[in-house]
Amino acid sequence: MIRLSRMRLMVTGGAGYIGSVCAARLVESGHDVVVLDDLSTGHRDAVPAGCRFVEGAVKDAGAVLAEGFDGVLHFAARSLVAESMAQPQRYWLGNVVATVGLLEAMREHGTPRMVFSSTAATYGEPASVPIAEDAVTRPTNPYGATKLAIDHAIGSYAIAHGIAAVSLRYFNVAGAYGRYGERHTLETHLIPLILQVALGHQEKIMVFGEDWPTPDGTCIRDYIHVVDLADAHERALEQAVPGEHRIYNLGNGTGFSVRQVLDTCRTVTGHPIPARSAARRLGDPAVLIASSDRAHRELGWKPERADLAVIVADAWKFALGAG
Ligand code: UFG
Repeated sequence: MIRLSRMRLMVTGGAGYIGSVCAARLVESGHDVVVLDDLSTGHRDAVPAGCRFVEGAVKDAGAVLAEGFDGVLHFAARSLVAESMAQPQRYWLGNVVATVGLLEAMREHGTPRMVFSSTAATYGEPASVPIAEDAVTRPTNPYGATKLAIDHAIGSYAIAHGIAAVSLRYFNVAGAYGRYGERHTLETHLIPLILQVALGHQEKIMVFGEDWPTPDGTCIRDYIHVVDLADAHERALEQAVPGEHRIYNLGNGTGFSVRQVLDTCRTVTGHPIPARSAARRLGDPAVLIASSDRAHRELGWKPERADLAVIVADAWKFALGAG
């Protein structure tokens, strides 16, 4: 891998879950990192030591970029599927309009690189799995639609204005990196919710549907460790090519059902974790599994923490510390 020297980087959303882990790793790699976050969903104490913190919205990024930066890692976004169905304006304004403003600020101040947090939700219900980057993109909710619109916007800015851009399409991110982990006020994700039961904060976990066309009837997802994800960001940053927009899926290429995740969490925590059957959740696809072949081939990236028990154990250590 080409190792670039120290870069001056702006990380939007660096007080959030994935943003804070990536910012921490970038600082450890020797980069100079400024976190821009409005703390609407992030936490001030999640901003890694060694980062300068600017409290502000993405629309205010220009004032920071004017100082001169080598790149932007753009994590700040609204990311709740159900909220996006009920209040799409928050997503079109907060995700799409804000990011076009960020691209404009990058153009104005000559910021040469961008790595963007895209999502598997850009694909919608897949025709087949594993999902490769050339699969049809037909998002089933405004969250995925806005992330896809941003991917298109980034592509056109890269070509027209010479930005070196990469969109990383995450599958189901989980795990933690020491004191940096998942701490959403409104938690909807499976693993942290299960761990809340193990901590005694919730009585039981609801299993959304046991009649899916899968071996045990529950939905299958591809869980990727947040540290492996962060490594992919560093590689993307270093290997981005001016004038090109590259897209990579990030997953382990292995699917686990909700029941399998539950069993792994029981083993890791030693807690019985009561579960109840509930109705299917609107908009859930039965199976989402990534093909990350392109990231393996072009970025030289390979997940090193693919074992679900390792992913859950790191999330559990974090939950014990935070809770
Ligand atoms: N689930 C339950 N009970 C819960 C929570 C989740 O059974 O209390 C199930 C869901 O139905 C799903 C699986 O656990 O089958 C995983 O659900 P998550 O909410 O953890 O993750 P999603 O697969 O829904 O979401 C992920 C990303 C989103 C992205 C979405 C695209 O986290 O950002 O994929 O489909 F939008």
